[in-house]
Amino acid sequence: GKGTFDHFMLKEIHSQPASLGKTTRGRIADDKRGVRLEELDTGVLDGVADVHFVACGTSYHAALIGARMLSDVGVRTRVFRASEYAKTAGPVSETTLVVPVTQSGETADTLSALRTANERGAATMTVTNVVGSTAAREADESLFIRAGPEIGVAATKTFTSQVVTLTLLAQQLAADLPGATPRDDLPELLTALERIPEHVEQVVTSSRASDLATRLLEYDAYFFIGRGMSQSVALEGALKFKEITYEHAEGFAAGQLKHGPLALVTPETPVVGVFTGEEAGQTVTNAMEARTRGAEIIGVGPAGGPGEAASDIYLTVPDTHPVCQNLLANVQLQLFAYHTAKELDRSIDKPRNLAKSVTVQ
Ligand code: F6R
Repeated sequence: GKGTFDHFMLKEIHSQPASLGKTTRGRIADDKRGVRLEELDTGVLDGVADVHFVACGTSYHAALIGARMLSDVGVRTRVFRASEYAKTAGPVSETTLVVPVTQSGETADTLSALRTANERGAATMTVTNVVGSTAAREADESLFIRAGPEIGVAATKTFTSQVVTLTLLAQQLAADLPGATPRDDLPELLTALERIPEHVEQVVTSSRASDLATRLLEYDAYFFIGRGMSQSVALEGALKFKEITYEHAEGFAAGQLKHGPLALVTPETPVVGVFTGEEAGQTVTNAMEARTRGAEIIGVGPAGGPGEAASDIYLTVPDTHPVCQNLLANVQLQLFAYHTAKELDRSIDKPRNLAKSVTVQ
């Protein structure tokens, strides 16, 4: 049941310290110099030269972060919306590892992309939450995110577990693929990942997102911006927000704002800036372009970070490794979406027109 929580979504947001603890358990070496994904038969990686991610919705946003983690270690990677894979992938061979990222393991578009990959002779490895799902049965290998069952239609704890699993997978590939190079900051990254449950706990217990929600009703639209990995967090923040509030929300690469979307910015369109990581300063520059047009700036980032002074309202995250800062920023945006939807009295756990698992193409 929901226990003391009003909705499964809020319960699931609050359960992330536990779910993320399960995701990493036993997978990080004691000396923080490597990972072990013990259930994975690494034979599937033999001869792999590049990686294609295929996914939909929230899982697509997790895949974008996974791709960034792989490109950081020198692995050629592309990310496809699963529904576009068959038409746009071009030649795929046994040197391509195709990774369907799917919480349910039952999404029709993602299964179709997986079948395309299998038919074209690629190696396949699904990253999923559900043992025994169709994706797990049809892929050559499976890597489980171990988030536990998710009841709310809006994916929350499964997104963060996907991101952490893909981050670990990237470090495994960095060690196993010829030509890939382990990250210089691997010990710092793995140390930060082990502390993520504690940091998520800090965010969920101290978040000011509910005060923010009551102030921000009745606007025309909500824009979410970020750069690099924080762009993926912005896209996911906007998706979660539109799904459960039914308000118009869009995510953009911060640098693209001035190439079109800025025409929509007015005092009635708050801009949510994900001010995490090295690119935060540049995202601030873009947020100022919106502020000049009267938009309220809602920032998310570490205390004292470059976004703080640029924001009308600032939601803080612990000052940890940039990858983990992005995960924590996502948790703040989960809470922002949740509390806004609650103020608007929406059907949070079962938003209109949406299903937990989309089994039609
Ligand atoms: C968003 C959401 C959907 C799913 C998408 C893929 O909150 O839940 O966008 O992420 O339908 O579902 P899976 O991951 O089961 O393939």
